[in-house]
Parts: sequence; structure tokens; C-alpha cells
Amino acid sequence: MKKNEVILILDFGGQYNQLIARRVRECNVYSEVVPFDISIEKIKEKNPKGIIFTGGPASVYGENSPKCGPQIFELGIPILGICYGMQLMTHTLGGKVTRAEKREYGTTRVFIDNTSKLFDGFETTNGFLMSHTDFVETVPVGFKNIGKTDSCPNAAMANDEKKLYGIQFHPEVNNSENGILVIKNFLYQICNCQGDWQMSSFVEDSIKTLKEKIGNGKALCALSGGVDSSVAAVLLSKAIGKNLTCIFVDHGLLRKNEGDEVEKIFREQYDINLIRVNAENRFLEKLAGVTDPEKKRKIIGEEFIRVFEQEAKKLGTVDFLVQGTIYPDVIESGLGKSSVIKSHHNVGGLPDYVDFKEIVEPLRNLFKDEVRKVGLELGIPENLVFRQPFPGPGLAIRVIGDITKDKLDILREADAIFREEIAKSGLHKSINQYFAVLTNLRSVGVMGDERTYDYTIALRAVETTDFMTGVWSKIPYEILEKVSSRIVNEVKFVNRVVYDITYKPPATIEWE
Ligand code: XMP
Repeated sequence: MKKNEVILILDFGGQYNQLIARRVRECNVYSEVVPFDISIEKIKEKNPKGIIFTGGPASVYGENSPKCGPQIFELGIPILGICYGMQLMTHTLGGKVTRAEKREYGTTRVFIDNTSKLFDGFETTNGFLMSHTDFVETVPVGFKNIGKTDSCPNAAMANDEKKLYGIQFHPEVNNSENGILVIKNFLYQICNCQGDWQMSSFVEDSIKTLKEKIGNGKALCALSGGVDSSVAAVLLSKAIGKNLTCIFVDHGLLRKNEGDEVEKIFREQYDINLIRVNAENRFLEKLAGVTDPEKKRKIIGEEFIRVFEQEAKKLGTVDFLVQGTIYPDVIESGLGKSSVIKSHHNVGGLPDYVDFKEIVEPLRNLFKDEVRKVGLELGIPENLVFRQPFPGPGLAIRVIGDITKDKLDILREADAIFREEIAKSGLHKSINQYFAVLTNLRSVGVMGDERTYDYTIALRAVETTDFMTGVWSKIPYEILEKVSSRIVNEVKFVNRVVYDITYKPPATIEWE
């Protein structure tokens, strides 16, 4: 692959580290998050155009605080230290870091020297997010002050000769006004980047590399209909055509028409070798009478592997197994942090069960928004590319209690109505996840002159960026009214609709 310019992000444990990497990429420069104690040799090998030190919760005076050796400042590579990164730079280079009496937090007016390259294009004051206790009292020799706040004497510092910069605030978050411009200035004015990280060239380069790597070998991909596996499959198919086989296990727990839609795209639009296994009955038999959500998950995970294994065996040995791993998974596992919830058929589960020689992960360097851009480049329809997250165990965890085909069908209809009305209203752009749940509750209702004893559907809609926390969406009453009346009128066996108005935490997004 063409050698891209790279910015290394040294991870000192701050909560915004991935965000910094994404912001750099948004500026069209490739970035990699690496551990703070990466060796000097490794850095030289990677030949970065610049280095960013992230923030972090530690104090430079802490016994076990993360540190990197002073040699890094002698490499002649521009460095931007953010928050803890600035304090570490100061401490290592002989300046003074001091503990403040109280923490400074929130968007704060920073008085800046806009003649500095780092602040090119700024006014003399700007609101940036500050979040720190320690601060730089004296900048190291060779540095000058280029920013301060009412309570922080050195909110930004520069050593133009050595191209070393420090900022106490966080330019990467949205609460900082024009924060991205600080990053852009660092990349383009200080590191002299050209900006060669474009999704169109990623697609071109990847296809070429995959062609070279796989040659005439055979590859196998588990397709779930989610964004990552879909994009990985299309990329592979562009590279090796019919030497790729995709197995799509339809467990019967997908949303209305979803299985057919996935099949249509891959068969008709891309002419991919697709094996769709309609395994609904197998899954429903195994799930019959099971009410515990964890048990449901386990059964589905195991059955998925069984079905996939059976189909894969028919193909004999394959050379490559394609996985839709993406960069956040790599960062989280690679840097030893706790892992996010994963779908049972994303990563990890399959290798033990398939006879293959090597794993191919064409998306392992991409963030989710980049995967989506690649998807669009490849012509994958928008509704698939921007599909909201959908749990691997599918509707099984949205039917509370035991699962039957009838219950799944009721839920599919109600959910389709909800999604249709949200899309019609345009709210789908601001609500990050929304779906219906079939509660296990039946109650008395009246329809016409008849008494009914039917199910309650719950609607859930949340706004979130990380899916770890979220607020319930304030959907206008008229829309809720329309959804509710359509569901009770159009979906048999439902006589009541409720709306979930709980935050996460304390609730979760899914009802299980
Ligand atoms: P909770 O319910 O824990 O869900 O607030 C957080 C997010 O994770 C999704 N989710 C899953 N995604 N496989 C996945 O790929 C799973 O097994 C799974 N379970 C929950 C959920 O939809 C929400 O977006």
C-alpha cells in the first residue's frame, strides 16, 4: 500500500484518545494510537510526521505515572502535548508543574497569542474545554507562553525551533470552539502534512493489496448484514471476485424484510457468491421455552457457530477467513483496556471452528465513520451503511420472556411502523437508536365493543454518541401518537403502547 503520512498518538490513558485519532483523520492525515512507552526504535521505524501526547488522569508526580523517555524530544519530530501530555513535556524538559487547589473544568476563555502557528486563524480569545488539576507554572527553557486563562498562567506553550507545543485544553472535543483548527494547524503548519488520507485512495489501495495478498486463494466471510461485515465483504469481492464466498446465517431473529434486503444487495448489486442459510427453525427450536436473556444469547451464539461450521465444512479448506474487525476493537484489545460488548459473530468466535490458513481484516485500521465512508465509496446503499446498531442476538433480546415465531412477527410489524414513522419525520438523523420491544405483559383493552387481552409494545429511542450512556429522545407527542395509533390498529394482538423515558444509566438501551 502507498505509504501514508502518519501521526502517532501516544496514549497516556485519557478518555478522549480515540477522539484525537479520529480528529486527525478527519483532517485527512492517517493516525495511529500507540502505547505511551513505545520504543524510540519503533517510533523511528514508523517515521511519523508528528506526535501527539494525549491527556490522562495521572499527575507527573505520581509514583507510577506514565512517562516516556526524554529522547523522544530529540528526534526532531514535532510534538503536541495535550493536558497531561503538556505537563509531562514540561516536567521532562525542566519546567515546573504545580498542583492547583481546585480543579478547573468546563469551557473556558483562553487568551491566546494568535501570531503562533498553532493558533493561526484564531481571534485573541477562544473558548476551549479545560479539565485539569495540575498545571504548568513555569515553561521549560526555550519555550514561550502562547496562552493563558484567568486561573491558569500557561494554558499553551511553544518552542518553535524544536517544534514542541503544549496545550492545557482539549481541542478534540466539541465543547472547544474551533478546536479542530488547532489540530489542523499542528498537522499542516507545523508538521507540514500534505493530507493524503482519503477514503477513495483507501479503497483503491486496499483492493490492490488484497489482490496481491490473496492471489488465487479462496476466502470466506461471515456476513451479518451489519455495516462492518458488509463493507469487508464488498471490498474483498472487488479484489478477488468469485474466490470469495459469504455465508449469511439468517437466524430468523432479524427485523422485517431484513434478511431479504441483505440477500438482494449482495446477490444483485455485487454478484457475490452468497450462501444464505435459513436457519430460523433450528434457532427457534433451541430457544423454545427459554426466558433468561443470558441463556438466549448463549444458545444463539453457539447455534450460530454450529450452522456456520456446517456450511463452511462443505467448502473444504479455505485460505483466508475475512473478519470485519475495526480500529476501536484493535485499540481496546491491543492496549489492554476493557472490551466493548461484541456481537457473537463479529470477532473472535469463528476462527476455532473454521479450517483456514490466515485471517484477513481489511478494516482493522478504520474507525466506524471511516468504514461508513468506504461503504459509500463502494456504492453500498445508505440505509445499510447508516444502519443503527443491531445486537447480534437480534430480536431474541427484544422479545421479553420466551420466544415464539408469532411473538417475533408481532414485534417485527410494530418495529417496522415505528421505524417508518421516525424516518418520515426526519428524526432518524438525530436519534441514534430506536426500536420496539415486545414486553411479556398482556392487559385488558377494549376494541370496538370487544374486550381484548393483548400485548404491550414498548418503544425505545435514545440519543447517544458512545452507546455507553444515553438520553431518551424527546420525540414530539404527535409522532408518538401516530406511532401508537398505527401499532394498535395495524398490529394484531397489541392493545397498548408505552414509551420508555429512562436514561442510560441507570437503564440500558436494550430491554433484556
Ligand atoms: P445496552 O443495552 O447494554 O446496549 O445499553 C448498548 C449497545 O450495544 C448494543 N448491543 C449489542 N451489539 N452485539 C452487538 O453487536 C450484542 O450482543 C449486543 N447487545 C447489545 C445495543 O443495541 C446498544 O446499541
